[in-house]
Amino acid sequence: MEEQGALRRVATLVAGGVAPAEIFSAVAAEVGQVLRADHTNLVRFEPDDTATVVGYWSDPGCRQIMPPLGGRWPIEAPSVTALVRGTARPARMTDADYARSTSAIGIWARIHRIRCVVGFPVMVEGRLWGAMNLYSQIEPQPGVTEDRMSEFVQLVGMAIANAQNHSDLLASRARVVAAADESRRRLERDLHDGAQQELVALALKLRTAEGSVPPGLCGLKEQLADVIRELSGILGHLQEVSSGTVPAILTSTGLRPALRSLARRCPIPVDLDVRVSGRLPDPIEVAVYHAVAEALSNTARYAHASAAGVSVAADDRAVRLSVRDDGVGGAAPGEGIGLVGLKDRVEALGGGMRIISPDGGGTALLVDIPWR
Ligand SMILES: Nc1ncnc2c1ncn2[C@@H]1O[C@H](COP(=O)(O)OP(=O)(O)O)[C@@H](O)[C@H]1O
Ligand SMILES: [Mg+2]
Repeated sequence: MEEQGALRRVATLVAGGVAPAEIFSAVAAEVGQVLRADHTNLVRFEPDDTATVVGYWSDPGCRQIMPPLGGRWPIEAPSVTALVRGTARPARMTDADYARSTSAIGIWARIHRIRCVVGFPVMVEGRLWGAMNLYSQIEPQPGVTEDRMSEFVQLVGMAIANAQNHSDLLASRARVVAAADESRRRLERDLHDGAQQELVALALKLRTAEGSVPPGLCGLKEQLADVIRELSGILGHLQEVSSGTVPAILTSTGLRPALRSLARRCPIPVDLDVRVSGRLPDPIEVAVYHAVAEALSNTARYAHASAAGVSVAADDRAVRLSVRDDGVGGAAPGEGIGLVGLKDRVEALGGGMRIISPDGGGTALLVDIPWR
């Protein structure tokens, strides 16, 4: 029953997505208590033939002899750690095995009169990741201890896999967002260097032609002026198409001026409150900028609002952003592409986004991004 209770506690931590470091300590303690060990620890195998201590526990009645968290031990034979790493199977050694050992662990075990060490491999998604070790003054019954360690160690493997999958997922979303940014930047550059330049040149030629129309041909002159006006309109459209990208003003002068220019371009009055001192990391500034741009353009297009408010505040841990309007409400991500894309961008940075938009009650877009 004691063991079942311990397993349940660990499983609850794993299911709750608790950080692996916390789970390592919890498992070291639960296993130590359930199996009446003197000490336990969890180590991660490193590529350079060392093992890093990531969790440990000692019986309160024992002297503190465990190496500190983050401490690195060489993996030298003969030792339980070397056996586990070599075979990916449980291993045990007793003081008789260690009697003449010259490995660092062997000497350490002799000095501290450890009678028996049992090691159990930690597998993560089928690959050997590290080991859980149990140190005892009395030799535990062979087989039984290993059996009982096995379930705890499986939970450790799951916790590590969860955390890795989570950070892999974040990294892959960040890559998707970065790739989309890059292709948009390329589109902007192509438009700017290509079509836009050609249209500007064409407009200049037309102006010259307009200027050299003989005085008698008023109709032709007016026609040319019309063409030039239309051309300017097309240039304006092209500029709008490419203005979805990160503006130069953001990169060169930072959030405050960039947000001010967004607010000025909005057709309704925007109350802007920016409490950010200094510059934030690039991807965060870009995310905040896009969030405000998307929210204000949604407000202008759908909200029928009379005013909007933007507030951005950064403390030493997170950036918090809110964009509110007093419009018709009813905003929902998933109906368009703007809010969904924004959510991806924010979550790729480890942040969160919420939309509160009751029918008739205005809309609030709330974004939190941790930055340290
Ligand atoms: N501020 C707002 N007020 C009212 N409705 C909104 C607001 N913002 C978004 N919406 C609604 O939510 C939908 C989804 O928004 P969004 O993802 O930005 O889509 P879109 O790409 O069409 O702009 C919009 O089509 C619109 O109907
Ligand atoms: Mg939109």
